Amino acid sequence: PYFQMEGDASANLSRANCRATGGAHGFKVAILGAAGGIGQPLALLMKMNPLVSVLHLYDVVNTPGVTTDISHMDTGAVVRGFLGQTQLEDALVGMDLVIIPAGVPRKPGMTRDDLFNINAGIVRTLCEAIAKFCPKAIVNLISNPVNSTVPIAAEVFKRAGIYDPKRLMGVTMLDVVRANTFVAEVSGLDPRDVNVPVVGGHAGVTILPLLSQVKPASSFTQKETDYLTDRIQNGGTEVVEAKAGAGSATLSMAYAAAKFADACLRGMRGEAGIIQCAFVDSQITELPFFASKVRLGRGGIEEILPLGPLNEYERKGLEKAKKELGASIEKGISFIRK
Ligand code: NAD
Ligand code: LMR
Repeated sequence: PYFQMEGDASANLSRANCRATGGAHGFKVAILGAAGGIGQPLALLMKMNPLVSVLHLYDVVNTPGVTTDISHMDTGAVVRGFLGQTQLEDALVGMDLVIIPAGVPRKPGMTRDDLFNINAGIVRTLCEAIAKFCPKAIVNLISNPVNSTVPIAAEVFKRAGIYDPKRLMGVTMLDVVRANTFVAEVSGLDPRDVNVPVVGGHAGVTILPLLSQVKPASSFTQKETDYLTDRIQNGGTEVVEAKAGAGSATLSMAYAAAKFADACLRGMRGEAGIIQCAFVDSQITELPFFASKVRLGRGGIEEILPLGPLNEYERKGLEKAKKELGASIEKGISFIRK
């Protein structure tokens, strides 16, 4: 399988299946911010995805080189590059899925919210163009702070009269990927066999791993729970500090984004039982957006799954998460409304 998915009986794409779903029958995918630290390896991974027939790479710098390089890969997707605002329309027309890793990354000592001033404007501009040129596309938003950029995108789409909450997803897959890895380390399991739901949002205490719901069922001591929760919540900062000024997670993020995009595409082509966590327009808490497990289908998010039973530790974590998350959501909304 291209990506191994939890509980997915049809994960084994046969060679014949790959051919049948690639080429002219595949999906058209655009990456906005394709020349960046995430964008480049993500472009490589999407070029390898048999469900992608056309891959558009857009950035404000360096797309000709990245596109030429990627285009030499002997995989099915046709790659085209687009450079600068004047080519944004052509980059977007006809796209089924738009993945957005455009924007500045953190340096040591910064919070994701410190990126708001620059990235909010970038996300607004790109979403205004999506509303105009591919209003039916599914959007995977990676740019930080995700807790605010997703509400910004929703407000832009509402203003343009094209908002469909089913088609907008903030990508929190990296939190799940990290949680699976760290839990596997503690439990002595293969990370591919582990699935940890991570809910809430994508920054510090808003990242809430539900360790009581880990599959396969596992129990952790209080010390392990504290260690795992802290490591998952601060995984991004761990990378930012290790890179010491050279940016934040790019390779593990590209992997996570490609895994999430693959889940979206498989849902879009009608595969059943595709469930992943994402930060979405939601009614499962009193907040207007929340990350939780969602079922992906032909039209995007087909169902938002309930949080399930939380233990006392997680209930406390949820209250903390909601407080910070509410303020970040409000900041995003008022950036567009004011
Ligand atoms: P980067 O600086 O390496 O790349 C960003 C790219 O965006 C650059 O190539 C830049 O030219 C491009 N860009 C800037 N303005 C643009 C615009 N208006 N239109 C199109 N492209 C534009 O940064 P990176 O490491 O790739 O990170 C990108 C973003 O992703 C950051 O905001 C980072 O915080 C975020 N991120 C999110 C997650 C997550 O889990 N959701 C994980 C890692 C990083
Ligand atoms: C991450 O979780 O790695 C990203 O959100 C980047 C960051 O700034 O931590």
